[in-house]
Amino acid sequence: MLKIDFKSSTVDDCKLLNLPRIQTKSGSITSLNNSVDIPFDINRVYYLYDVPGGAERGGHAHYDLYQVIVAASGSFDVIVDDGNNQKTISLNRPYHGLLIVPGIWRELINFSSGSTCLVMASATYSASDYIRDIQMFYSLKSKNS
Ligand code: TYD
Repeated sequence: MLKIDFKSSTVDDCKLLNLPRIQTKSGSITSLNNSVDIPFDINRVYYLYDVPGGAERGGHAHYDLYQVIVAASGSFDVIVDDGNNQKTISLNRPYHGLLIVPGIWRELINFSSGSTCLVMASATYSASDYIRDIQMFYSLKSKNS
Protein backbone atom coordinates (compact mmCIF):
# COMPACT_ATOMS: atom_id res chain seq x y z
CA MET A 1 0.00 0.00 0.00
CA LEU A 2 1.33 3.37 -1.07
CA LYS A 3 2.28 5.76 1.75
CA ILE A 4 3.42 9.25 0.79
CA ASP A 5 3.55 12.05 3.32
CA PHE A 6 1.59 15.31 2.73
CA LYS A 7 4.61 17.50 3.47
CA SER A 8 7.26 15.73 1.40
CA SER A 9 5.24 14.70 -1.65
CA THR A 10 6.35 16.08 -5.01
CA VAL A 11 4.96 16.25 -8.53
CA ASP A 12 7.29 13.32 -9.39
CA ASP A 13 5.12 11.12 -7.15
CA CYS A 14 2.20 11.87 -9.51
CA LYS A 15 2.84 9.16 -12.06
CA LEU A 16 1.02 8.26 -15.22
CA LEU A 17 -0.13 4.64 -14.88
CA ASN A 18 -0.60 2.41 -17.88
CA LEU A 19 -3.87 0.67 -17.10
CA PRO A 20 -4.57 -2.80 -18.46
CA ARG A 21 -6.43 -2.91 -21.74
CA ILE A 22 -8.31 -5.89 -23.14
CA GLN A 23 -8.92 -5.26 -26.82
CA THR A 24 -11.61 -7.17 -28.67
CA LYS A 25 -13.02 -6.77 -32.18
CA SER A 26 -16.05 -5.07 -30.70
CA GLY A 27 -14.32 -2.70 -28.30
CA SER A 28 -11.96 -2.53 -25.35
CA ILE A 29 -12.24 -3.14 -21.61
CA THR A 30 -10.15 -1.69 -18.80
CA SER A 31 -10.65 -3.48 -15.49
CA LEU A 32 -9.17 -1.92 -12.35
CA ASN A 33 -8.48 -4.07 -9.32
CA ASN A 34 -7.63 -2.82 -5.82
CA SER A 35 -3.93 -2.92 -5.00
CA VAL A 36 -3.16 -4.64 -8.33
CA ASP A 37 -3.78 -1.97 -10.96
CA ILE A 38 -4.45 0.88 -8.51
CA PRO A 39 -1.86 1.33 -5.73
CA PHE A 40 -4.41 1.88 -2.94
CA ASP A 41 -7.74 0.51 -1.78
CA ILE A 42 -10.53 2.21 -3.68
CA ASN A 43 -13.24 3.51 -1.34
CA ARG A 44 -14.97 5.92 -3.70
CA VAL A 45 -15.50 6.37 -7.41
CA TYR A 46 -16.89 9.58 -8.86
CA TYR A 47 -17.02 11.15 -12.28
CA LEU A 48 -17.31 14.64 -13.69
CA TYR A 49 -19.41 15.17 -16.78
CA ASP A 50 -21.42 17.95 -18.44
CA VAL A 51 -18.38 20.17 -17.86
CA PRO A 52 -18.97 23.37 -19.86
CA GLY A 53 -16.27 24.56 -22.28
CA GLY A 54 -13.75 26.81 -20.54
CA ALA A 55 -14.60 25.50 -17.06
CA GLU A 56 -11.85 24.76 -14.57
CA ARG A 57 -12.19 22.12 -11.86
CA GLY A 58 -10.06 21.12 -8.95
CA GLY A 59 -8.29 24.08 -7.40
CA HIS A 60 -7.54 22.28 -4.17
CA ALA A 61 -5.23 19.80 -2.41
CA HIS A 62 -5.91 16.95 0.01
CA TYR A 63 -4.25 16.08 3.31
CA ASP A 64 -4.61 12.29 3.03
CA LEU A 65 -6.39 11.33 -0.16
CA TYR A 66 -4.88 9.32 -3.02
CA GLN A 67 -6.61 9.47 -6.38
CA VAL A 68 -6.26 8.07 -9.87
CA ILE A 69 -7.80 10.29 -12.56
CA VAL A 70 -8.79 8.92 -15.96
CA ALA A 71 -10.19 10.62 -19.06
CA ALA A 72 -12.84 7.91 -19.55
CA SER A 73 -13.91 9.82 -22.64
CA GLY A 74 -12.58 12.94 -24.33
CA SER A 75 -9.62 14.83 -22.91
CA PHE A 76 -8.49 17.42 -20.38
CA ASP A 77 -5.26 18.64 -18.80
CA VAL A 78 -4.26 18.28 -15.15
CA ILE A 79 -1.84 20.78 -13.60
CA VAL A 80 -0.17 19.45 -10.44
CA ASP A 81 1.82 21.64 -8.05
CA ASP A 82 3.81 20.62 -4.96
CA GLY A 83 4.69 24.15 -3.87
CA ASN A 84 8.10 24.00 -5.61
CA ASN A 85 7.37 22.54 -9.03
CA GLN A 86 4.45 22.26 -11.39
CA LYS A 87 3.77 19.96 -14.29
CA THR A 88 0.91 19.54 -16.74
CA ILE A 89 -0.31 16.12 -17.81
CA SER A 90 -2.70 15.73 -20.73
CA LEU A 91 -5.15 12.89 -20.30
CA ASN A 92 -6.81 11.63 -23.46
CA ARG A 93 -6.83 7.81 -23.27
CA PRO A 94 -9.13 5.67 -21.11
CA TYR A 95 -6.16 3.37 -20.35
CA HIS A 96 -4.01 6.12 -18.82
CA GLY A 97 -4.50 6.97 -15.15
CA LEU A 98 -2.82 9.84 -13.34
CA LEU A 99 -1.94 9.04 -9.74
CA ILE A 100 -2.29 12.06 -7.44
CA VAL A 101 -0.93 11.68 -3.92
CA PRO A 102 -1.57 13.71 -0.73
CA GLY A 103 -0.12 17.22 -0.60
CA ILE A 104 -0.53 18.10 -4.28
CA TRP A 105 -2.49 21.10 -5.55
CA ARG A 106 -4.36 20.17 -8.75
CA GLU A 107 -6.31 22.00 -11.41
CA LEU A 108 -8.19 20.44 -14.30
CA ILE A 109 -8.53 22.54 -17.45
CA ASN A 110 -9.18 22.31 -21.20
CA PHE A 111 -12.03 19.79 -21.05
CA SER A 112 -13.11 18.67 -24.49
CA SER A 113 -16.84 18.74 -25.04
CA GLY A 114 -18.60 15.61 -23.81
CA SER A 115 -15.58 14.44 -21.81
CA THR A 116 -15.89 12.33 -18.67
CA CYS A 117 -13.34 12.51 -15.86
CA LEU A 118 -13.40 9.31 -13.82
CA VAL A 119 -11.77 9.42 -10.38
CA MET A 120 -10.92 6.54 -8.06
CA ALA A 121 -10.22 7.70 -4.53
CA SER A 122 -8.76 6.06 -1.43
CA ALA A 123 -11.39 7.42 0.98
CA THR A 124 -15.04 8.38 1.12
CA TYR A 125 -15.88 12.07 0.75
CA SER A 126 -14.67 14.31 3.56
CA ALA A 127 -14.84 18.11 3.32
CA SER A 128 -12.23 18.40 6.09
CA ASP A 129 -9.61 16.64 3.93
CA TYR A 130 -9.61 19.56 1.45
CA ILE A 131 -7.31 22.60 1.35
CA ARG A 132 -8.97 25.16 -0.89
CA ASP A 133 -6.70 28.16 -0.21
CA ILE A 134 -3.50 28.04 -2.27
CA GLN A 135 -1.57 30.35 0.06
CA MET A 136 -2.44 28.10 2.96
CA PHE A 137 -1.33 25.11 0.87
CA TYR A 138 2.04 26.75 0.07
CA SER A 139 2.56 27.62 3.69
CA LEU A 140 1.74 24.06 4.87
CA LYS A 141 4.20 22.65 2.28
CA SER A 142 7.01 25.06 3.10
CA LYS A 143 10.06 23.74 4.92
CA ASN A 144 9.71 26.32 7.67
CA SER A 145 6.15 25.51 8.72
P1 TYD B 1 -15.12 19.49 -5.65
O1 TYD B 1 -14.30 18.37 -5.12
O2 TYD B 1 -14.79 20.87 -5.18
O3 TYD B 1 -15.11 19.47 -7.24
P2 TYD B 1 -13.92 19.65 -8.29
O4 TYD B 1 -12.62 19.41 -7.62
O5 TYD B 1 -14.22 18.64 -9.33
O6 TYD B 1 -14.02 21.02 -8.86
O7 TYD B 1 -16.65 19.17 -5.35
C1 TYD B 1 -17.72 19.93 -5.87
C2 TYD B 1 -18.91 19.76 -4.94
O8 TYD B 1 -19.31 18.38 -4.90
C3 TYD B 1 -18.62 20.16 -3.50
O9 TYD B 1 -19.77 20.80 -2.99
C4 TYD B 1 -18.42 18.85 -2.78
C5 TYD B 1 -19.27 17.88 -3.57
N1 TYD B 1 -18.71 16.50 -3.59
C6 TYD B 1 -19.33 15.51 -2.85
O10 TYD B 1 -20.35 15.73 -2.16
N2 TYD B 1 -18.81 14.24 -2.89
C7 TYD B 1 -17.70 13.95 -3.62
O11 TYD B 1 -17.24 12.77 -3.63
C8 TYD B 1 -17.05 14.99 -4.36
C9 TYD B 1 -15.81 14.73 -5.17
C10 TYD B 1 -17.61 16.27 -4.31
